[in-house]
Amino acid sequence: MKILVTGGAGFIGGNFVHYMLREHPEDEILCVDALTYAGNMETLAPVMDNPHFKFIKADIADRETIYAIFEQEKPEVIVNFAAESHVDRSIENPAIFLQTNVMGTQVLLDACRKYGIQRYHQVSTDEVYGDLPLDRPDLFFTEETPIHTSSPYSASKASADLLVQAYHRTFGVPVTISRCSNNYGPYHFPEKLIPLMIANVLNDKPLPVYGDGKNVRDWLYVEDHCSAIDLIIRNGRVGEVYNVGGHNEKTNLEVVQLIIATLGKGEIQFVRDRAGHDRRYAIDPTKIHNELGWLPKTKFEDGIQKTIQWYLDNKPWWENIISGEYQNYYERMYGNR
Ligand code: NAD
Ligand code: TYD
Repeated sequence: MKILVTGGAGFIGGNFVHYMLREHPEDEILCVDALTYAGNMETLAPVMDNPHFKFIKADIADRETIYAIFEQEKPEVIVNFAAESHVDRSIENPAIFLQTNVMGTQVLLDACRKYGIQRYHQVSTDEVYGDLPLDRPDLFFTEETPIHTSSPYSASKASADLLVQAYHRTFGVPVTISRCSNNYGPYHFPEKLIPLMIANVLNDKPLPVYGDGKNVRDWLYVEDHCSAIDLIIRNGRVGEVYNVGGHNEKTNLEVVQLIIATLGKGEIQFVRDRAGHDRRYAIDPTKIHNELGWLPKTKFEDGIQKTIQWYLDNKPWWENIISGEYQNYYERMYGNR
């Protein structure tokens, strides 16, 4: 199978590339990535010499280039990870989120129509469902939960999902969608909660917890997300949405305190809350379990230890990131908070 992975120089896409080359050495992986601030060739360095892997730098919203890639490379399966992915940046500047997440998705879908493919898989998020109240632990997101978005990021992801479903219904493009909860693991850009806190502890900087720190996220080790997508592209039913999550709900404070306890230091600083901050995400993964037999392998307690160890063992990977433009981002986001 020839699989086009967009956004493969990012966190989850990069882990997916490694996962697929390891689990399915017979497949060919073509990675297309625009190398925005979030893309990092260091993440792909270990596979650059693999004869089953090829990298092309391109923007998914650049129609001409994307059509040329489809024409020349003839991918059979598309897995679209490419996106602007950070909620705080979407609050600062929504436009690029619509451009990449919506218009980019449309270009890929048009290419699928024009050149024909076996499967288009859209990597979506549980954030399209909005949030759940903290005092109703009995509620979970199912695939039937109405779309109800809070941030420009989640609105752009939901828009892309609707477009994917429209291209299936109207043009017959064979699509699937996965909506996963918060991922964590190696190669996670240090603007997101877990890697940011690990990097700050190691650099003796305060740990900025938004609001009261009681917001709940449902954490999934990134490899478990990769295995879910792998199953969906092979055995998932065309036209279907699959929620992906492992019942690992934690408050932000619990996560930060676990990082402090593991590293033996770190000082929490409560800072101004995020605008529109979603209170709780929680996935009901019954459908993917019953239909495809998917189960997560890594418990949060083990996954977080592995992740912290990875950041200890791979300092050059993240120190390189935070030494550059990231400093300006950090000052803009946290300087006056
Ligand atoms: P990321 O920000 O780490 O990586 C995004 C990648 O996409 C980068 O390599 C970037 O260079 C590339 N990219 C951005 N704009 C592009 C464009 N116009 N053309 C081509 N490439 C472009 O993001 P991530 O956390 O790995 O998320 C990947 C996907 O998974 C996203 O679609 C996101 O919405 C979804 N998702 C993420 C999470 C999570 O917890 N991180 C959870 C559920 C779903
Ligand atoms: P994040 O990693 O940005 O993921 P998302 O907003 O997509 O869930 O944030 C996870 C949670 O951590 C969210 O409730 C916001 C909170 N948070 C902080 O408290 N401090 C921070 O510095 C960051 C980046 C996030």
